[in-house]
Amino acid sequence: MELRQHLSLCVLLVLCTTWSANGGNILVWYTEGSHWINIKPVLETLINRGHQVTVLVPTVSMFMNTSEPSRFHYEPFNVSFSMEDMKRFLEDFLHFSMYEMDQMSYLQIYIRFMNLMKNNLYFNFKYLDGVLKSETMMKKLKQGNYDLLLADPIYLGSDLTAEILGIPLVFTLRFTLAHNFERHCAQLPAPPSFVPAAMSKLTDKMNFSERLWNFLFYALNDIVLNHILWKEADKYYSEIKGKPTSACEVMGRADIWLMRTYWDFDFPRPFLPNSQFVGGLHCRPAKPLPEDMEEFVQSSGDAGIVVFTLGSLVKNITTEKGNIIASALAQIPQKVLWRYAGEKPDTLGANTRIYKWIPQNDLLGHPKTRAFITHGGTNGIYEAIYHGVPMVGIPMFADQPENMIHMETKGAAVIVDYKSMKTEGLRDAINAVINEKMYKENALRLSIIHHDRPTSPRDEAVFWIEFTMRNKGAKHLRVQAHELTWYQYHSLDVLAFLLAVILLLILLFTKTCSFCFYKYCDRKKKTKRKAE
Ligand SMILES: *[C@@H]1O[C@H](CO)[C@@H](O)[C@H](O)[C@H]1NC(C)=O
Ligand SMILES: *[C@@H]1O[C@H](CO)[C@@H](O)[C@H](O)[C@H]1NC(C)=O
Ligand SMILES: *[C@@H]1O[C@H](CO)[C@@H](O)[C@H](O)[C@H]1NC(C)=O
Ligand SMILES: *[C@@H]1O[C@H](CO)[C@@H](O)[C@H](O)[C@H]1NC(C)=O
Repeated sequence: MELRQHLSLCVLLVLCTTWSANGGNILVWYTEGSHWINIKPVLETLINRGHQVTVLVPTVSMFMNTSEPSRFHYEPFNVSFSMEDMKRFLEDFLHFSMYEMDQMSYLQIYIRFMNLMKNNLYFNFKYLDGVLKSETMMKKLKQGNYDLLLADPIYLGSDLTAEILGIPLVFTLRFTLAHNFERHCAQLPAPPSFVPAAMSKLTDKMNFSERLWNFLFYALNDIVLNHILWKEADKYYSEIKGKPTSACEVMGRADIWLMRTYWDFDFPRPFLPNSQFVGGLHCRPAKPLPEDMEEFVQSSGDAGIVVFTLGSLVKNITTEKGNIIASALAQIPQKVLWRYAGEKPDTLGANTRIYKWIPQNDLLGHPKTRAFITHGGTNGIYEAIYHGVPMVGIPMFADQPENMIHMETKGAAVIVDYKSMKTEGLRDAINAVINEKMYKENALRLSIIHHDRPTSPRDEAVFWIEFTMRNKGAKHLRVQAHELTWYQYHSLDVLAFLLAVILLLILLFTKTCSFCFYKYCDRKKKTKRKAE
């Protein structure tokens, strides 16, 4: 019996080694929050396909828990700040976005925003120190023999690490302010005449004043980001490499950019062979609900249910807002499932149940779901698109207002302003998306666009990751725009040359003409004089 056990163990071992030899060895850069929610399903699919996945995790992380059982291998690295520092920063950011911003002048907002960005950078470089400046860590990574690094570029430094390790790099990105990274580092074209800058709250249909604003928005944000982010990043990169280095250029060496958006959510825009659009990575079919929840949902009858969440960051709202929301919910015929961790509002109706946590995707995919009330985070919106559920948006900060504008423009949502929200307004908005056919039809149309493609976004992302490993990079997809200066890119040198030639020709022409003219006049005068 012992022998047989040994034998089967040997067979298993042999199988395992050949199996992992076929699979790649993938290193994943640390991420937080919704970025992690998006990357995780991709990593699970990669593991299912026989790849090994190692995730870099800082010792201070708000979302990654290395003690939780998982199929990834976690590689922890040290950071020199505490969880309290991190939480304080996040709270500061939330407070600014939710309460301070609307009472400030533009100048105050600008100064406060610069400070927040500087703080964010400070944390970013502290994380980087834990990897790039730790000899133990770099030695470990070099010995890891990784085939590829997968990262979100908003957490700076993965590109430099990939370069030092000499391995291909695949980025996954939702967006950056005014598409700064995409335009300047990935060379993704974004003509300001029809590509609205990220966070500008514009759509792709712009009149003259909006196009003017869009143009300025791109330019102003480029100046700000150059001044704060890129200047500091260049300094850090140069220090590590020991020679002057442009961080944006290093970022631009990434092999593939997986953009976490698609034409169900975004407006059509030009793209490059190495940029793929994979919005909705985490979406999946609904699973059955917990028994008591299913019972509550079924009790709604033909009226159906409404799913309500303001996201994981907003834990509580003011008592006043809580009561406004609760009494609006109490006035609709549907049953409501509200994810909320704050105090129970006094005006809560019998049709509304509060939960600390809800299986959001499973609820959105439930046949009884009529509408989704959301803060407008991309992940929630994508789940609603996936299942074809119309939305009421109560956006609060960051990209949420803009995300909801996309959905409103595509006719699948109504937006309610959080700050001036009244019970009647919220109630009417919910009734509108449920009772006016247009919203449901448009939500279903977006759902069809989302599903009608050769492969699911997750499989597509996995394909491009495996493609990059198979080809040891994807430099053959890289546009030469990376090698050009800004005046070459816009053909300004060619235009200047052509202009010079044209001017020269005009000059020659006028000179010759005037020369002939004088000659002619001269001769006339001479003949005249002779005749006299
Ligand atoms: C991490 O996961 C472990 C195991 O599931 C759990 O005991 C622990 O409380 C978690 N830690 C945090 C900070 O969530
Ligand atoms: C993290 O810090 C601990 C304690 O100082 C040290 O033992 C460990 O080697 C460090 N880990 C890395 C990856 O640098
Ligand atoms: C352009 O559109 C905006 C928003 O729809 C509107 O407020 C503005 O008046 C328009 N401007 C012109 C010049 O038509
Ligand atoms: C939310 O709760 C925290 C404590 O849990 C409290 O300090 C804060 O003031 C609350 N915010 C609002 C808007 O009620």
